[in-house]
Amino acid sequence: MTTPEFLDLLSETAHLDSDGEVVMGGCRLSALAASYGTPLFVVDETSLRHQAQRFHRGLQERWPKSRAVFASKAFPCTAMYELMAQEGLGVDVAGGGELVLALNGGVDPALMVMHGNAKTDVELSMAVDAGVGTIVIDNFDDIDRLEKLVTADQGVLVRVVPGVRGVTHDAMSTGQEGSKFGLSHDDAVNAIRRLQQSDHLRLDGLHMHIGSQILETEPFAHAVEVLANYGDFDVYDLGGGLGVRYTYSDVAPTPEAWLDALVSAAKRSLPRHAELLIEPGRAMVAQSMVTLYRVTTVKHGVPTFVAVDGGMADNLDVSLYGQRYEATIVNKVGGGASVDLVGRHCESGDCLIHGVELNDPSIGDIVAVGVTGAYAFTMLNNYNGALKPAVVFVADGKADLRVRRENYGDFFLRDVASGAEVTNYG
Ligand SMILES: Cc1ncc(COP(=O)(O)O)c(C=O)c1O
Repeated sequence: MTTPEFLDLLSETAHLDSDGEVVMGGCRLSALAASYGTPLFVVDETSLRHQAQRFHRGLQERWPKSRAVFASKAFPCTAMYELMAQEGLGVDVAGGGELVLALNGGVDPALMVMHGNAKTDVELSMAVDAGVGTIVIDNFDDIDRLEKLVTADQGVLVRVVPGVRGVTHDAMSTGQEGSKFGLSHDDAVNAIRRLQQSDHLRLDGLHMHIGSQILETEPFAHAVEVLANYGDFDVYDLGGGLGVRYTYSDVAPTPEAWLDALVSAAKRSLPRHAELLIEPGRAMVAQSMVTLYRVTTVKHGVPTFVAVDGGMADNLDVSLYGQRYEATIVNKVGGGASVDLVGRHCESGDCLIHGVELNDPSIGDIVAVGVTGAYAFTMLNNYNGALKPAVVFVADGKADLRVRRENYGDFFLRDVASGAEVTNYG
């Protein structure tokens, strides 16, 4: 590995200080680890804002009647909702919890899109009461439920299964026939007919989302063309799914290449008067973050295990999808022997990276794992009593703590003393 290779994976402000240490947002990573503890999520705010505009403005330049919506499941914290709202983006919320977070983060409900394949009555009434602009119909039960709830005009889209499969992990593929999300052709046609006769549900158009971490643009373009088979509508939400470059060998399309593919397909097949929406999550946030860990143990052997103070409690992507990452010691970038970077959790599967080159790893070293901005915060857990990490936004040499690190006292916040709330069902 050469020095620039690791930096190439990171966000635009990342560079090496004169002594060779990695700096992000003008902050030395070891200084952040010392102040906030590890594991630590460090978010490059400037890059994040640029990325939001690459999608938002990039889409509007190509198709003026359009807007970008952040798929907030990729990083659902208040700071992120606030940032997206400031940048003028809407957000996609999957269920009541993300809706509450988005409202708290100041997102205009009119710019929200609510998703879910198992929306409850409560979640749908929360969305209607909050004034969520668009609710995506995933099944006939959504229609039944909304028709009982809605007394004024409510915009909806029908999520269709385009029958397109991009290359990605099975668990992340959602556009193929047999997917649990959306309606296949005949059901979608029936749902569209039903909604066209609804008193209060205003069918604005169609939605599709073919999956996540897809590293080629063709499947997206193909799926857009499939939407044309359903007739003319005012709105087409083309979903998210653009993959990102996690490893030195990954090749990911740029946001611009993805937008070119989507919009060219839309120009070929969708009505010119329509509004286009996109919902990127992963590609919006992944590159802007690194996770910092402290080395706790080095066990020499074959392989050599370098163990850190985090692991699958703060990054489940490896266990769930086998996602490969890259890493460096923040002040010894480049070179070194291949080791297994492992976490502190009680299973052998808790390996952050198999076979990563680290330069003379020693106890106390700070290791940065790159490109962790998507879904890591989302899937945090307390396995083995792990404390959820702090989130710090960095920009122009300033660090802004946006989520404090969990403390052991937080573990008891939901406990109820025995006998304090007893219900008799006998
Ligand atoms: C409906 C919908 N839209 C957008 C996304 C965002 O996908 P990605 O993070 O891959 O861009 C998802 C993620 O699963 C989704 O379910």
